[in-house]
Amino acid sequence: EIENRVDSVLSLMHLNEKIGQLVQYSGKWNATGPSSTNGDQYKLEKLKKGEVGSMLNISSVASIRETQKIVMEHSRLKIPLVFAYDVIHGYKTIFPIPLGESASWDLDIIKKSAMIAAKETAASGIQWTFAPMIDVSRDARWGRIMEGAGEDTYLNSVIGVARIKGFQGDDLALPHTIAACAKHFAGYGLGESGKDYNTVNIGEHELHNVVLPPFKAATDAGVATVMNAFNEIDGIPATANKMLQRDILKGDWNWNGLVVSDWGSIGEMKAHGFAKDKKHAAELALNAGSDMDMESYAYEAHLADLLQEHKITIEQLDDAVKRVLRLKFQLGLFDDPYKYCDVDREKNEVYTKENLEVSRDVAKKSIVLLKNETKLLPLSKTIKSIAVIGPLADSKDTPLGNWRAKGTYNSAVSLLEGVKNSLDKNTKVYYEKGVDLTIPTVKPGDNQFLHPLEFNTTDVSGISVAVEVAKKSEVVLLAIGENAYQTGEGRSQTNIGFLGKQQELLEAVYNVNKNVVIVLMNGRPMDLSWSADNIPSILECWFLGSESGNAISDVLFGDYNPSGKLPVSFPRHVGQEPLYYNQKNTGRPYNRSHVTYSGYRDSPKSALYPFGFGLSYTTFEYNNLKLDQTTITKTGELNASVDVTNSGQIDGEEVIQLYIRDLVGSITRPVKELKGFKKIMIKAGETQTITFKINAETLQFYTANKIWEVEPGAFNIWIGGSSIADLKTKFEVTE
Ligand code: IFM
Repeated sequence: EIENRVDSVLSLMHLNEKIGQLVQYSGKWNATGPSSTNGDQYKLEKLKKGEVGSMLNISSVASIRETQKIVMEHSRLKIPLVFAYDVIHGYKTIFPIPLGESASWDLDIIKKSAMIAAKETAASGIQWTFAPMIDVSRDARWGRIMEGAGEDTYLNSVIGVARIKGFQGDDLALPHTIAACAKHFAGYGLGESGKDYNTVNIGEHELHNVVLPPFKAATDAGVATVMNAFNEIDGIPATANKMLQRDILKGDWNWNGLVVSDWGSIGEMKAHGFAKDKKHAAELALNAGSDMDMESYAYEAHLADLLQEHKITIEQLDDAVKRVLRLKFQLGLFDDPYKYCDVDREKNEVYTKENLEVSRDVAKKSIVLLKNETKLLPLSKTIKSIAVIGPLADSKDTPLGNWRAKGTYNSAVSLLEGVKNSLDKNTKVYYEKGVDLTIPTVKPGDNQFLHPLEFNTTDVSGISVAVEVAKKSEVVLLAIGENAYQTGEGRSQTNIGFLGKQQELLEAVYNVNKNVVIVLMNGRPMDLSWSADNIPSILECWFLGSESGNAISDVLFGDYNPSGKLPVSFPRHVGQEPLYYNQKNTGRPYNRSHVTYSGYRDSPKSALYPFGFGLSYTTFEYNNLKLDQTTITKTGELNASVDVTNSGQIDGEEVIQLYIRDLVGSITRPVKELKGFKKIMIKAGETQTITFKINAETLQFYTANKIWEVEPGAFNIWIGGSSIADLKTKFEVTE
């Protein structure tokens, strides 16, 4: 039915109206890229003529109604606009940053957080989010590592799908669902040396085996839109990459959704040295399958001429327009362009108590206990005194992280507040900032992209005061890490340690009180080597969102037993980056006793805290790894099972992870690859047998034949609690 309606609208459209549907402008607030010289008046005129298909960065029912009205009242065909916004980890109720949330390895809760984000977004008039980011990201220096599910292809695939299902539900026409956007297609997470927008040089096999599977999973799950990427890949900018967009996405995968460019990425092909000018860029992008032009002003200026000059075809243009119309029909906008404009919903469904409760639940499940050597944690609630120290200890803003949509400045529960909420009056709670970490330059209404941060931190002459406070306290909670805007777009760094005087503060406090818990807030893997050697307890708390302080206190005081696992490797030194567990073996694998091996002279090759790692207040033991068959055919199936025992004193959840290695391949295979996981609650003393199915889907890869297939041969298999799990067995695949 939708297809007929799409065709009938298309048949009514003039060329300028068709081209208009492929144009996306930003509203004046919150520009998320360089602002164009085309001002509001220019955009207004275009809206009136029905020459705009979509707007981004307009939020609130009132502004959206006002903008939609311009089109409805003035344009000839009254084709409604679709409104987009970067809802990355919550709309107004802020959830953990995606990297943090991914540490929960809890697909249900991840889906739920996206569902709530969608509900709040839709209640505010918006129908389309530019999320999830499913770029496999292996470099801690890259600022946008915060925005995805980390370094692993499988984890990005399943988490991406959970987020898409949360945003879109089963039906885009429902008033609480919004269209998702799988981004950035493709390779953006693998830019050289972690610099944003940087060159990607990966081979065909890496592309198919590492980068594309999350996008394939997203399109299989019905994602409505895909965003292409700023980067070039093997010399061809993603925005003009025909092989990616026409051949794979719209060809092999037969996907009929909408491809939107990234902000200005069509125009930027001139800077890439790929297009002579904007006109050439428009030609290349449309030919390659980029449907909508976000803020390049290239399509609106040149597509008509290009058509006349036979540089593009009407079939290509119509196909792109149909993809836009299809989305609008799916969202129900043709039936009611103001469907999402309900002030009551905006008032009642956004930032509710229930939504905040879910945010707290997601946040506590995202926390990763990295170290707890002396079992300092959990803390007793009858503790007599506690010091909450550090530049982030009473920050109500940092926990909201970057890309916080409409998250209100300074609205998060700070660590200090959370601790006070958990304790009664009998505990003396001291607070001292110690040092100041980066003056928060981004205030409401600011465009954060125009506010580069100063990374100097100043001693607010607080180190000595902090030391005094630490001396008189039983335990010190030291909240250090990063400013919220140290990660995010354009926020790459060479230094992934503690900036400014934080390390000095840490050492000074530790000198007078050994009972230190580092409460780490950050958006990227950090270099924690000194802390790992010295500090008894380290709690990875990312940027946890609106309920941060309460969620952290749930873990600190044992109301919740931590269950998070790292979605990304933490290095010993920034020099190890890019660092990821599923590396290739090389011809000279690791061998510390000999000089000529692939590694470093001054550091082990391994991660400080590996992918998949995270502790609990209880302990888990893995035994009896068994296969029901040790030989299967290429189309066969086997079951691998393992006994997991909670060998500690309290109940806890564990993420049981399945890894395989294909020992010999027609292209070399990684030393380990995650192929499945299950997160389950195991009661103290209880043993559960967990079973994974292994079949062609688990074993296949993009081979030298350039197809996905299983190759016969020997496989290793591991099941355990992290990527360095050593309980291992093997099996054979025959023809
Ligand atoms: O969605 C984003 C994208 O990820 C990066 N550039 C800007 C877009 C729109 O805000």
